[in-house]
Amino acid sequence: MIPDPLDGWERTHLSTDITEADVDTRVVVMGWAFRRRDHGGVIFIDLRDRNGLVQLVFNPEHSEESHSKGHALRPEWVLAARGVVRPRPDESLNPDMATGAIEIFVDEVKILNRSDPPPFPLDDELPPTEATRLRYRYLDLRRLGGARDNLLVRHRVISIIRNFLNNEGFVDIETPFLTTSTPEGARDYLVPSRIQPGCFYALPQSPQIFKQLLMVAGFERYYQIVRCFRDEDLRADRQPEFTQLDVETSFIEEKRLFDIVERMVTGIFSEILQIDLPRPFAVLSYHEAIARYGLDKPDLRFGMELSEVSEILKETGFGVFRSAIEAGGIVKALKVQDGERLSRKDLDDLRDFAAIYRGKGVAYTRIKDGGEWQSPIAKFLSAAERSAINQRTDARPGDVVLFAADSPQVVNDVLGNLRNHLADKLGEIPQGEYKLVWITDFPMFEYNEDEKRFNAMHHPFTSPREEDLPLLEADPSRVRARAYDLVLNGAEIGGGSIRIHRSDVQERVFSVLGIGPEEAQEKFGFLIEALRYGAPPHGGIAFGVDRILAILTGAESIREVIAFPKTQRAVCPLTGAPTPVTTEQLKDLGLRIAAKK
Ligand code: AMO
Ligand code: AMP
Repeated sequence: MIPDPLDGWERTHLSTDITEADVDTRVVVMGWAFRRRDHGGVIFIDLRDRNGLVQLVFNPEHSEESHSKGHALRPEWVLAARGVVRPRPDESLNPDMATGAIEIFVDEVKILNRSDPPPFPLDDELPPTEATRLRYRYLDLRRLGGARDNLLVRHRVISIIRNFLNNEGFVDIETPFLTTSTPEGARDYLVPSRIQPGCFYALPQSPQIFKQLLMVAGFERYYQIVRCFRDEDLRADRQPEFTQLDVETSFIEEKRLFDIVERMVTGIFSEILQIDLPRPFAVLSYHEAIARYGLDKPDLRFGMELSEVSEILKETGFGVFRSAIEAGGIVKALKVQDGERLSRKDLDDLRDFAAIYRGKGVAYTRIKDGGEWQSPIAKFLSAAERSAINQRTDARPGDVVLFAADSPQVVNDVLGNLRNHLADKLGEIPQGEYKLVWITDFPMFEYNEDEKRFNAMHHPFTSPREEDLPLLEADPSRVRARAYDLVLNGAEIGGGSIRIHRSDVQERVFSVLGIGPEEAQEKFGFLIEALRYGAPPHGGIAFGVDRILAILTGAESIREVIAFPKTQRAVCPLTGAPTPVTTEQLKDLGLRIAAKK
């Protein structure tokens, strides 16, 4: 019979539970061998368990056998060690370590398993590449600090959320993953059906339609911490599968919903970061956000507001500006204080930055004594124009003023992103600050120039403002939506809306979106029908749990707060997914691969 590797041993303590109060106690600890040091024949090994590290001492004078075993131990071998806790001698006290005042004098050690030499040392410093870390994610997560700690924070945040919502009367209900398309503006992940050949399920982009059906069903308060699937271009803050905290309520309006959310969010910050955020949160209309910051997710940790200068430049001699204005565009300015921090090259490089956002360039001037301009474009502007711009932007000697001229969308995109970029580069963003703001009064529709039709800015189930209903047919571009986003430090962490609860309004909105009665019936007939059976007024919101965690933990990307994330190419380096399937499997599904890459 193979003996049980633990052989009756039971762990008495996790590493960090052992304190000076345990001196002279016999303890059993279990974990992984980490660093080893050999000091004049005495061997020291830091043992790592889920909580942290504790130092084991193997001394030949005490027990030859345990000593020689100490010699044999290699990094990441799995051990159980029995011994007596003793204070460290003064010279080896380690104030940086939770257990730095004690050590365990080992008299017996069991090797529970061996380990191949790990592909990278599991110490505090990051192993070379993210690709390697993701390939060996189980080792990466064994490291103290880093992603492992983020997952522990994640667990705490999720339980704070659940406790809060449970206490507020919200009911946790699961909704299907194998479903039909749930339009949130991304591509669907499709799953072929074997039993219905040629038919596909879509994985949900969000539980939007189901949570509305749960309101029709009368649950009144629903939540779910749920995986959502979106096939879109990936970035640091986007994963193909990500987690939403999805919430829906009946019989309440924006004000009450905001209050619930604000109490939940401030609760998370106070428990996790011991920070008391002020309530109520700031509110900015979409138009004000765009006017002042260029983006609908402004970072309010710093100033640097944009100024519109089109009015001043209507008749300017500078062709780039005048032709933009004549074509229905605008010119906006961004002032940067202490402009000497930006070199000539920095300023010239802004053209490439603008190009990312379809901008054709960024014009600039340095402001000299007396408000004089030093700029390649100074000569094209009249003295009156220059001085009016100084006044509008409150520019002082030493400042730099940057300009973009184009359609409003391009100008705001370029300068809004430039504002974030320069604040970061110049160290203007205060660390450890958290600025939350609701963005409200979004337009209901945005016009898609390429497709020559309107798209829903949020989603097609968002309610227009009651007083704007007559505009649905007359002038869709002026219809305001009862939609809101919650923005934290320039990141959209949540978004939602009050919904349409009348089937006739829903049908009219579909029609603005170019979804005719037949198509609406085919795709969303079940929803329109449900709205006819006593749908209560309702609304809700969904949060990007991964994004909130990235901000709480200071992670560079949401991959650092997800146990097994995918790369920017939507690949899992650990399992190799996605992978080809066998011809058999395809045949079962009635599928054939048309083109291989
Ligand atoms: P929305 O599409 O705004 O709204 O999504 C809600 C929040 O989810 C997060 N998020 C993502 N996080 C990581 N990776 C992604 N690919 C990703 N996409 C979105 C964002 C976003 O604010 N059904 C509506 C909500 C509602 O109306 O109640 C919805 O899904 O933080
Ligand atoms: P150009 O006439 O293209 O050489 O541009 C003269 C200056 O205006 C350069 O600094 C350009 O970067 C800048 N510029 C060009 N197009 C724009 C634009 N659309 N908005 C702001 N500045 C621009």
